[in-house]
Amino acid sequence: MPDLDLRLFLPKPPFWLIVAVVIGTVATWVPLSLFLKHRFSYHEQPRVHLFQDMDNQPKLRAQAASPVFADGRAMRPPVPGSVARGHLDGDDHLHRGFALVADGGEAATEYFQGFPESIEVDERFVQHGQARYNALCSPCHGLDGLGQGMIQQRGQALAINKDSGVKLGTVWVAAANLLTVDEASGQLLYGPGLYPEGKLYNTIVNGKANMAGYGHATTVEDRWAIVAYVRALQLAQQPDQMRSAWRQVDAESSVASSQ
Ligand code: HEC
Repeated sequence: MPDLDLRLFLPKPPFWLIVAVVIGTVATWVPLSLFLKHRFSYHEQPRVHLFQDMDNQPKLRAQAASPVFADGRAMRPPVPGSVARGHLDGDDHLHRGFALVADGGEAATEYFQGFPESIEVDERFVQHGQARYNALCSPCHGLDGLGQGMIQQRGQALAINKDSGVKLGTVWVAAANLLTVDEASGQLLYGPGLYPEGKLYNTIVNGKANMAGYGHATTVEDRWAIVAYVRALQLAQQPDQMRSAWRQVDAESSVASSQ
């Protein structure tokens, strides 16, 4: 049997059908190109949003004004006395370094001696304190605590005319020398006893007189670690003074606990 060419039996498609198929095929690209155009071009109006799903709701943005409230602010301050979850900060020793005690009808500040129970002072902790002290405190108090950091040196240089030695108008308050020994008592002015750990902690948080506070830049652990490192600096450079100060604190606390 001779081979049959099947194409001979297929009718040749009419010209209009070929044109229609080509136009139809090209037309299917139109939605795709429109989609891509809208996907990648900029529009002033929000895009068509068929399913709202509560995506757009009336709301007040941060820092916006609102006539609803008497003070005109949309952002509301926390209700007085409210405490954020996990921020009770209820441990006076750990979180503040002092307690308020009644003193003849008035509230007085009593600084805590020593470290809070939950703080474990080990080598790693003191090293962390060293890093934070060197970063935050040494610019003024010096790497050794003697109060001769770069800012202190520069401030002094600006306060005194180098050539004439005349004091200029600038008033410069020196950073405290953390190893100062009190002349009268022979004790370390910022050492244990005279300057309790809790007071050091509070000075770090809130500052003191001309020194700004560093509470914003430190966590609770950072501050106690800095306290531990200041004690380490003092112990390294004034070991005898430190030991006698600690003995005195111990003696006083054992008297207090036996009363
Ligand atoms: C920008 C400089 C500067 C930095 C940084 C600084 N201090 Fe001070 N500090 C001072 C000055 C100035 C004083 C003295 C304040 C005064 O007597 O008016 C002072 C005083 C102190 C005192 C004695 C306060 C008192 O009760 O008399 C302590 C303790 C102290 N600083 C610790 C620290 C520690 C810890 C840090 C790091 C967290 C620190 N300082 C960072 C400038 C600084």
